[in-house]
Amino acid sequence: MRRILAGAACAIALAVHPLAAFADEIAPADVAFDDMKVTTSLTGVPGNPEEGAKAFANRGLGNCLACHALEALSKEQFHGDVAPTLDGVADRWSPEELRAIIVDAKQVFTEETMMPGFYSLNVGLNVRKDLVGKTVLTAQQVEDVVAFLATLKE
Ligand code: HEC
Repeated sequence: MRRILAGAACAIALAVHPLAAFADEIAPADVAFDDMKVTTSLTGVPGNPEEGAKAFANRGLGNCLACHALEALSKEQFHGDVAPTLDGVADRWSPEELRAIIVDAKQVFTEETMMPGFYSLNVGLNVRKDLVGKTVLTAQQVEDVVAFLATLKE
């Protein structure tokens, strides 16, 4: 009888896991940087590379193409060139480093970097008024973009 009860409790714990993951979300101010890396997933839910590609290209979200070129998405019209091309970026940076760069590029590059902090309340020099107190990307969108960038190998 004990065994059966324990088994049932386990099944319930697994069933509620996706919801519990939201509760585990790390708040922007609590993200821990460790030597240019953020080693812990912000959500505990694996990133989805297809969703990441969309957030990457979406001008209202990542708008990464405003500054970065990426051959793999060359059908997109706007290709900025103020920042390094992101082709092969996964050969240069680990997923933990990519997460750190996206969360808050200032922590990895310099305070003066043009790259906005996408999961930071300290977004950057030119903060849009409607973004004060908010992050540009959600925690899960950061994980999705990291998963997308991790596919960019040459
Ligand atoms: C306003 C311009 C701007 C935007 C928007 C921007 N970046 Fe950047 N990014 C930069 C600059 C500039 C650098 C180079 C580091 C530096 O000089 O500060 C950089 C560096 C990087 C690097 C390291 C590249 C390498 O090969 O060393 C990655 C990865 C990156 N950005 C990802 C992104 C992603 C993903 C987005 C969208 C979510 C994004 N960036 C949006 C300007 C930008």
